[in-house]
Amino acid sequence: MPNFNDLNLDNWKESEIWTDSLWIINERDKTGKHSNFYHGNFVPQIPRQLISRYTKKNEVVFDPFVGSGTTAYESETLGRHFIGVDIQKNLVEQLKLKVDNAKYFSEIISGDSAKNSTFDEINNILKKQRKEKVNLAILHPPYADIVKFSNLKNDLSNAKSLKEFLNGFALVLKNTISILENGRYLAIVIGDKYTAGQWIPLGFYCMNEAQKLGLTLKSVIIKNMEGNRAKQNKEGIWRYRALSSDYYIFKHEYILIFKK
Ligand SMILES: C[S@@+](CC[C@H](N)C(=O)[O-])C[C@H]1O[C@@H](n2cnc3c(N)ncnc32)[C@H](O)[C@@H]1O
Repeated sequence: MPNFNDLNLDNWKESEIWTDSLWIINERDKTGKHSNFYHGNFVPQIPRQLISRYTKKNEVVFDPFVGSGTTAYESETLGRHFIGVDIQKNLVEQLKLKVDNAKYFSEIISGDSAKNSTFDEINNILKKQRKEKVNLAILHPPYADIVKFSNLKNDLSNAKSLKEFLNGFALVLKNTISILENGRYLAIVIGDKYTAGQWIPLGFYCMNEAQKLGLTLKSVIIKNMEGNRAKQNKEGIWRYRALSSDYYIFKHEYILIFKK
């Protein structure tokens, strides 16, 4: 029996945990505090599945790219403590007003997750909360320069090259691994991109960075991308562009699962 979650395997047939490596999520869950105002957020079902499968109640979930707080809200709903970081101060201030610290702590700080000093702060939070380590890490970095999140120099979406992005991402990984309990899980949510007519397998490069740091790859999950283009009635034009050229339209991203 796994000792890293609260699933009751006596009822395994009724479990809502997805065990396939293909996740087709047709609709974003809009219940609770999730508002979908943030361009580049992920669907709440992703952190919900990961938190339910890889943590127990009262354990600590960590997200070094917290954005609009999807992981924070899911942690709260599922009865887990939460620590998050984002480089955008205003975003963090807004989020701090929305999270509920009553029963489970939710500590969100602004900072650069590639920097050791940010993790000194996180270690102080862990000490204050009488926790040794975090029990699950969920990383949803910028997909390199695909969506620009801010004008801040150290925002990974402003990295000047793929190499610079991967170096920065590897530092975030290294810092995150340092606060993750041994034997526990780390998930990366990432997609690929085209640059100058060439498919850049960002997902595979990020996977490689995690493996170089000694993490064990446990799964590569393929998830469908939401139909933003369909909603904007732009599917046709993208299909025409794909046919008149030699590329494919991105319809998937990856959820990479690792164990420390
Ligand atoms: C893809 S978004 C994460 C979205 C989040 N999962 C959500 O559901 O809202 C990536 C986030 O990383 C932040 N970011 C970029 N570089 C960073 C860095 N060096 N340290 C911390 N946060 C960073 C951006 O500000 C952005 O909010």
